[in-house]
Amino acid sequence: MSILSRPRLLLLALLAVGLYHFAGPRISLFAPVELAQGDVGGGGGGGDHSTGSLGAAKALKDGRRTISKRTVAVADLHGDLEHALNVFRMASLVSSTSESWIAGHDTLVSTGDIVDRGDDTIKLYRLFRSLRMQSKQAGGEVRNLVGNHEVMNALGDWRYVTKGDIESFGGAAARRTAMSTQGWIGQEWLRDYNVTTTVPLLPPDHPGLPKGYTPPSASFVHGGITPAYAERGIDEINRIAKSLLRKGLDEERPSGWLPPDTTPEEQAVWSESGPLWYRGYATEDEPEACRIAEKATSALGVRHLVMGHTPHFDGFVMRCPSAEILLIDTGISRAYGGEQSALVIDFELVPLPSSKQDGDRGHGKQELWRETETLSALYRGRKPKVLKRLERDLWL
Ligand SMILES: *[C@@H]1O[C@H](CO)[C@@H](O)[C@H](O)[C@H]1NC(C)=O
Repeated sequence: MSILSRPRLLLLALLAVGLYHFAGPRISLFAPVELAQGDVGGGGGGGDHSTGSLGAAKALKDGRRTISKRTVAVADLHGDLEHALNVFRMASLVSSTSESWIAGHDTLVSTGDIVDRGDDTIKLYRLFRSLRMQSKQAGGEVRNLVGNHEVMNALGDWRYVTKGDIESFGGAAARRTAMSTQGWIGQEWLRDYNVTTTVPLLPPDHPGLPKGYTPPSASFVHGGITPAYAERGIDEINRIAKSLLRKGLDEERPSGWLPPDTTPEEQAVWSESGPLWYRGYATEDEPEACRIAEKATSALGVRHLVMGHTPHFDGFVMRCPSAEILLIDTGISRAYGGEQSALVIDFELVPLPSSKQDGDRGHGKQELWRETETLSALYRGRKPKVLKRLERDLWL
């Protein structure tokens, strides 16, 4: 960071992205919107926060309790273990002195591109494997997604693989074996990773949830889910993309191009409008992006589309009236030198005391509840920043 100033780094990185994506849509940077600063319950100093607080907190006389959950998302880590750990510790997911999961019931989502540009492929996949197991034991969850770079490696496209990374495997042949159907990384991708996932912002089976209430959810993917793919549904997206991934991992001498037996729907999934590459939510102008996002969120039944893939080095980009679009790739890896960041979604369902229920005539036995969703950005060395607070009162 000393020789290259940040703007120059940014230019270089953009050039790299642009060159790589030479045939693709234009890349444009959006200035992050300045929003009111505010203290957030989590992150920052790693102090007190809602970690593991499932089902705890306030109770009313009638027995109703506050139900809350924290969902954390990280984007492109690109071969940088040190920065990944910085981010996990900043978000109080991992102990400051070890690699222990300390986030209880929380959910962590990684939107892929763990591999390439840096040397720490082995260490990062091992760390995620350990966190998946540890979090499960604690009642939490780590959801791993593949990005376009995972699939590129499966297909034998090694243009972004570093020398140090190849050495860490003990050579190119060993690296390829690890990333094949016979190897541990290839097998983990097929078994433990997906292309897209939908995360409920409260546990849908929590016994304290009022009857008939379905918690809102958020969609996560590396590139972006177009309305056309949203209508096909996440099971179809995952099925088609996994099948392509398997074909790549199965090839004995992968060429970097699609395997000969690739089907048209697999080809489409790997195209620029497929979920691993699509950049429309970053590049379209605001009204158009929001128009598309509205279609995709309603087809998927989610509040937000959370995506990596298109870096914005100064911070997250939040678009549309209710943060339907959240672009969270800030170039965490030293290969970019951007912000080390995590997105935190705190969701709370709080019973309101009956004194506040002055309009309750006509609601029968129903009770009034308040949903509060707080979207916060954690950036290393900066104060946590509240991006958006969404509130809704409901008779349940
Ligand atoms: C991947 O997604 C499918 C549904 O789309 C689901 O059935 C499967 O359990 C998921 N796999 C993992 C590892 O999360």
